[in-house]
Amino acid sequence: MRILSGIQPTGVLHIGNYFGMMRPAIALQAQGEAFYFIADYHALTTIDNPETLRSNSRQVALDFLACGLDPDRAALFRQSDVPQVTELAWILSTVTPKALLERAHSYKDKIARGLPASAGLFTYPVLMAADILIYDSDVVPVGKDQKQHLEMTRDIALKFNETFSGDLKLPEPHIQPATETVPGTDGQKMSKSYGNTIDIFGDEKETRKRVMSIVTDSSSVEAAKDPDSSTIFQLHSLFATKEETAAMREAFHRGGIGYGEFKKQLFAKLWEYFEPMRKRRAEILADPSYIGTVLNRGAQRANEIAGQVMARVREAVGL
Ligand code: ADP
Ligand code: TRP
Repeated sequence: MRILSGIQPTGVLHIGNYFGMMRPAIALQAQGEAFYFIADYHALTTIDNPETLRSNSRQVALDFLACGLDPDRAALFRQSDVPQVTELAWILSTVTPKALLERAHSYKDKIARGLPASAGLFTYPVLMAADILIYDSDVVPVGKDQKQHLEMTRDIALKFNETFSGDLKLPEPHIQPATETVPGTDGQKMSKSYGNTIDIFGDEKETRKRVMSIVTDSSSVEAAKDPDSSTIFQLHSLFATKEETAAMREAFHRGGIGYGEFKKQLFAKLWEYFEPMRKRRAEILADPSYIGTVLNRGAQRANEIAGQVMARVREAVGL
């Protein structure tokens, strides 16, 4: 089984990224041949500062490795180290109906938030389809917000296969139901665009501050509280054991404990959960050549597969 996923180097990684994409990807690395990449071509749709792009890309590699990506099992690489993916994107764009791209929620959301409607932003899903199809990927672990992009990938692959008697493999999404959408401090989907994130590797003081800023209703300390509508409870359950979650549920129902106290419990769990990863991160940082070596090795492996698939594609279309 071949597993593939990508993440854009557009900012500091948060716990929504961790539970939605990184943790499932890391869990899958033992079950097949994994390819994980830093989507720097995609990030060009929103970043126009070369220094920012370079340093974010390194940061994502560092954080992913610190969180448990094992470079001996999974190839970690930069998308732009496999430039053939842009050739495939061009070929796929010739069979992609414009109307399919016009239906993309992600494009519509970004335009609504004021991003300029560039051709690159519009054709973003075609490049993403190329990312996936160029490795004959079977499984793609991503958060729920990427589901439509995966459906589009399947549609584009079908269209290519039909048009050119091709044999591109149709991938399956892999979306974790329990953590479909991790809420942010304001209860909306956690996203760097909404300023409601709790970062994986934030410093202690800032992380505590973010947790304490989680929005709650105005129930008194004595009042019984509803766990299911509480962001604190939802986030806590991501880090806690079943028993700890059951105990917090009961404490919510019982009343007598204020939200401030529950936030402290959440912070303690969260901080403890990422402790080994902070340690690993410091170790990686102590070896300045480590990340570069890992990325080069990953790129080599990715290029081997991409080269094979592109040879088939070029043959199929007559190039
Ligand atoms: P952001 O919304 O912060 O810009 P990205 O769009 O870069 O995050 O997402 C990177 C990966 O993390 C994607 O696979 C996405 O589905 C996942 N992800 C992002 N935010 C969340 C969230 N709040 N809950 C679950 N998964 C998420
Ligand atoms: N669009 C994804 C995101 O914003 C990143 C991405 C690019 C990706 N290419 C991919 C994810 C291929 C999975 C597979 O998170």
